[in-house]
Amino acid sequence: MVYYFSATGNSKHAAEVIAAKTGDTAVSIADILNGRAEIKEKSGKTGFVFPVYFWGLPEIIKRFASLPEVKNSLGDYVYCVITCGATTGTADKMLAKMLGRKLDYSFSLKMPDNYVVLYDPSPKEKAKKFLAHADKELETVCEDINSLAKKRAGSTAGELKSLFVPHLYDFFRTTKKFYADDKCVSCGMCAKNCPDGAIEMENGKPVWIKSKCQHCTACINCCPTEAVQFGKGTQTRRRYNYDKTIK
Ligand SMILES: Cc1cc2nc3c(=O)[nH]c(=O)nc-3n(C[C@H](O)[C@H](O)[C@H](O)COP(=O)(O)O)c2cc1C
Ligand code: SF4
Ligand code: SF4
Repeated sequence: MVYYFSATGNSKHAAEVIAAKTGDTAVSIADILNGRAEIKEKSGKTGFVFPVYFWGLPEIIKRFASLPEVKNSLGDYVYCVITCGATTGTADKMLAKMLGRKLDYSFSLKMPDNYVVLYDPSPKEKAKKFLAHADKELETVCEDINSLAKKRAGSTAGELKSLFVPHLYDFFRTTKKFYADDKCVSCGMCAKNCPDGAIEMENGKPVWIKSKCQHCTACINCCPTEAVQFGKGTQTRRRYNYDKTIK
């Protein structure tokens, strides 16, 4: 089983490639937590594929990894592939701690950065080059998993950052500054896609109802009209999502 969490498609793509090339099935963690999919029975290999947040774990991964059903479903070989815009530090070790066992294999996979709240995502052509490179890295990852390799590899630098930066995540992940501007066409996709149930539609417009969310950026980066903003910074920034970039 390959469990994955993905807001803008990088980790979903990685999980689907890994599942296809290792004879496994990719299942969305958000779907499991929202009752749309189930945790599968123990099998030979168990993988976790998700993005690094603040050089640590997304809140949804912490929640999922601490479920007894997840721990009971782990196979003999447990691995993770953590996608990132730069590096992942010790996020893999944090996952291992939550699961209560050492990981056999971890790989930090560099892909385009989606954190539009703080940075302007790369232009499309540059993002495409990152994705082409990531696909090559994924070939190695799949060979490693198929041969049950035991190692830590990829962009695992930033271990010092992992000591301090994860503490900032809780401070940053407020929903206070979200709003939809007048480009909103009331399609409801932002509410439907939110993995956290943080958005409700009121009079055809999204309203952020939780004080904290994953800050996954799905609502900002996947809105078809780029209407979702977070404060002023996002008004002039590009948007990134995997599907839009590879087209
Ligand atoms: C809240 C948040 C925090 C992030 N923190 C980091 C980080 O600490 N280091 C890094 O290299 N990339 C960071 N990123 C970038 C993502 O990890 C990267 O773009 C990832 O591939 C997105 O995966 P997805 O498309 O599956 O959602 C962050 C993104 C978000 C939304
Ligand atoms: S996805 Fe964008 S256009 Fe659609 S309802 Fe949400 S803000 Fe409006
Ligand atoms: S409100 Fe937006 S950023 Fe927050 S969890 Fe939902 S989709 Fe992600």
